[in-house]
Amino acid sequence: MNNKTINTSNQNSNNNNNNKILVTGGVGYIGSHTCIELIAAGYDVVVYDNLSNSNLEALKRTEQIAGKSIPFIEGDVLDKQLLHQVFDEHDFFGVIHFAGLKAVGESVAEPLKYYKNNVTGTLELLEVMQAHNVKNFVFSSSATVYAEEETSPIDESAGRSCTSPYGQSKLMVEYILEDLVVSDPEWSTVSLRYFNPVGAHPSGMIGEDPRGVPNNLMPYISQVAVGKLDKLKIFGSDYKTIDGTGVRDYIHVVDLARGHVAALNLIKKHTNIGSLGFEAINLGTGKGTSVLQLVKAFEISTQQVVRFQLTERRPGDIDAYYGNAEKARQLLGWQAELTIVDMCKDSWHWQSLNPNGYR
Ligand code: WQD
Repeated sequence: MNNKTINTSNQNSNNNNNNKILVTGGVGYIGSHTCIELIAAGYDVVVYDNLSNSNLEALKRTEQIAGKSIPFIEGDVLDKQLLHQVFDEHDFFGVIHFAGLKAVGESVAEPLKYYKNNVTGTLELLEVMQAHNVKNFVFSSSATVYAEEETSPIDESAGRSCTSPYGQSKLMVEYILEDLVVSDPEWSTVSLRYFNPVGAHPSGMIGEDPRGVPNNLMPYISQVAVGKLDKLKIFGSDYKTIDGTGVRDYIHVVDLARGHVAALNLIKKHTNIGSLGFEAINLGTGKGTSVLQLVKAFEISTQQVVRFQLTERRPGDIDAYYGNAEKARQLLGWQAELTIVDMCKDSWHWQSLNPNGYR
């Protein structure tokens, strides 16, 4: 059970029957799936997105799936004036903050762009929230904040250190939140550390639509299966794992989205008895799957062939990492329920219906 002392002098203006949530980056892959689960859970959603790495078609389809129109503002979290206007217009219970850059390799090449968008952007958003007395915040963090030497399953008490500017930017925001809640105990902040989000909404209408050649495994597999790419290069087959290929904790994006709803519900529950302070929580399945295991599961569950070739390790990759999912189960009452087969089938359903994504 959570042993934090709860601040009882919570003056946070967000009364409990206010269900309106600002979702920054809500047109993106995880953001759009989360909007659907938020609406299904009875929350009202307003989406704020600069469309730098997403397509407005995704929002249209999100509205179709949710059966509800979603107010949308095209804007950048660095645009403080516009953010103030949005907070003047809407009385938010809280914010789920997805907006940010997330390509590890690109962050090494362009660190300033990543620190500006991911750290400065979050600071601007937090300052606007503070000015409008909105102090409930769910942050899209990443398991990448954990130090490489940590052994799996990794729990939230593990050491943190990062080798890429992307990971550093996520870690810096966590430090900012930890300091913020000490300075102002009215804040309730939850940093959700994602392992490897994959899959798509079962309707096949929305899904992962990376620009250019995918960096990540599952979209690459799906594009090989649909014939957009020739074959999968498996980076490394000499890792100390069950079959020599890299092991990760893949989690279905719908489970991940439901984890965000659970985090908001936790904050809401605390609104009556005081704020939550800062909580970091893993969103993973607690199980590891190797590259070869995922390829095999994809082929069997979709009846598609995935041609592959074993190649050299990718610099920066590690043998295995997967999460300990116990804190989410205890504190959020949430656990991942969808399986690797669901992840493969839903990825394929989306890809086969949308060979060129939203374009
Ligand atoms: C998974 C496995 C690869 C592609 C990254 C980010 C992390 C998070 C999730 C944002 C590894 C292997 C991959 C390919 C392969 N993103 N692979 N061929 O690297 O675990 O995590 O995405 O928060 O921050 O680092 O995910 O999907 O790139 O790789 O063999 O073409 O698949 O070596 O073992 P990763 P991934």
